[in-house]
Amino acid sequence: MADYQILTGNCLDYLKNKRISGKIDLTFLDPPFNQNKEYTFHNDNLSLDEYWKIMAEVCQKTIDITSDGGAIYFMQREKNSEGVLRCLRESGWSLQNLIIWKKRTSAVPVPNKFGKQYQILAYATKGVKARVFNRLRISPPLPSNYKIKRENGVYVTDVWDDIRELTSGYFAGDEAIRGKSGERFHKQQSPIALLTRIILSSSKAGDTVFDPFTGTGTTLVTAYQLHRNSIGIEIDPNNSKMIYQRLRKMRDSDNVEKYYTEYSHTGKLAQIWGRETLAGK
Ligand SMILES: C[S@@+](CC[C@H](N)C(=O)[O-])C[C@H]1O[C@@H](n2cnc3c(N)ncnc32)[C@H](O)[C@@H]1O
Repeated sequence: MADYQILTGNCLDYLKNKRISGKIDLTFLDPPFNQNKEYTFHNDNLSLDEYWKIMAEVCQKTIDITSDGGAIYFMQREKNSEGVLRCLRESGWSLQNLIIWKKRTSAVPVPNKFGKQYQILAYATKGVKARVFNRLRISPPLPSNYKIKRENGVYVTDVWDDIRELTSGYFAGDEAIRGKSGERFHKQQSPIALLTRIILSSSKAGDTVFDPFTGTGTTLVTAYQLHRNSIGIEIDPNNSKMIYQRLRKMRDSDNVEKYYTEYSHTGKLAQIWGRETLAGK
C-alpha cells in the first residue's frame, strides 16, 4: 500500500530545514509562473531576479535529497525555457529531454509573433544516467496519409499532443474540481493523464514522488493509484484540505485505470503500473 504525506507551508522552508525525510526518486515541479495571477498565500508578481532565485534554490535543494539517477520534470511556460534550463544546469541536473506539451485548444494569439500553443516540461536526472526510464508505447490515431495500421503502437516521443489540458472547457470532462456554482477550485490543476505519463516513465512501484508546489494534489492522487509513495507541499491550507478530500474519496474522473489500455503495447506494463506488486508477485 502506497503512503502519502501532505505538508502545508512554504516548500523552501521544508527543503532548507531538511524536514523531508528519506530520498526522493522523482519530482514534478509545477510552480506558479509569476504572471500576476491571484493567489491568497503567494505573491505571483515577483521581480524576475527574486523569482528565479527561488526556483534555483528549489532545484538545488531538491537534487540534494534525490536518489542517484532520480528525475525531475520542471513544467513552465515556453517563454521561460531559458530560465528553466539555466536553473537545472546550475543546480547540477542533467537535461534528458525538453518536452513540448502541445495544448489541444486553439493557440493563444499574440500580436507580432506566432501564437502560443504549448508548455514545456524539462526532464532531467541526477547524473547523466536515469535510475529508471520505462519506454512507454501508445496508440495515437493513424495519420490520414498512413495506410498500414501500427500493430504495436509507437514509443512516446518528446512531443506530447495527446493529453488534454483542463482549461479546455467542457472537453476536459469532469476532472476539473469545481465549486458549487461551477467555478474552478484551482485554475492550474494538472491533468491526471499528464502525471500518469511522468510517473510511469520515471519511477517504479514503491518509489517516492515529490511535488513541492502540489496545488490540488494531482501528483499525489496519481502516485497513490500507481503504488508509488508521495510527498506534496502546498502553501495554501485550503488546497491542502482539498488534497486530503481528493485522496480519501477518490472521484471516478481521477481514476487512472482508464489510461491502462492507452499504454497496452508497453512491455511489462503490469509491473510498471504496480499491479504485480499489488498481487504480491
Ligand atoms: C501551478 S500550481 C500547481 C498545480 C498542481 N500541479 C495541480 O495539479 O493542482 C502552484 C501551487 O503552488 C502553491 N505555492 C506557491 N508558493 C508556494 C510555496 N512557496 N511552497 C509551496 N506551495 C506554494 C500555490 O498555492 C499553488 O497551488
